[in-house]
Amino acid sequence: MRVAIYPGSFDPFTNGHLDILQRACALFDHIIIGVLVHPAKKCLFSPEERVEMISEVVKENENVRVIHFNGLLVDFCRSAGACAIIRGLRAVSDYEYEMQMFSVNHKLSPDTETVFLMSSPKFSFLSSSIAKEVARYGGQIDDLLPLNIAECIRQKFA
Ligand code: PNS
Repeated sequence: MRVAIYPGSFDPFTNGHLDILQRACALFDHIIIGVLVHPAKKCLFSPEERVEMISEVVKENENVRVIHFNGLLVDFCRSAGACAIIRGLRAVSDYEYEMQMFSVNHKLSPDTETVFLMSSPKFSFLSSSIAKEVARYGGQIDDLLPLNIAECIRQKFA
């Protein structure tokens, strides 16, 4: 069984993340969404809230599990029996950071492959930060976020 980890902060999980996830599901038998517990970074949603919101989005898909993790991504991959890391790439501006992460992960664990999927053009502008910014000022977010997550973020800013 080919297991991949789709890691991220997911603060919050957007429709762009969902698009990458759905396409990754076609390539792997099982996907684990790994929600990073940031020791220092201040997130809008707690790790538990993020896991709960994403679990609701993927509840119909038996091949997807959502877990939060801390520490090194490659250690999480090893403990989960994953052979690959999934990352979405939106634009050239993502490339440098992603290349750096790939290089570190590859050095630490050469057997863990990183698979990059290009964002669908309709989501290439979208990030969690953009969605939070729009939500903070009361803009329309229903096209940006899964509906349950849009509702949670509206409540946060209410
Ligand atoms: O959604 P993000 O914030 O771009 O995701 C970044 C993430 C979670 C993939 C990355 O920060 C990560 O893997 N952190 C775990 C710590 C780690 O393994 N660091 C070494 C690779 S940079």
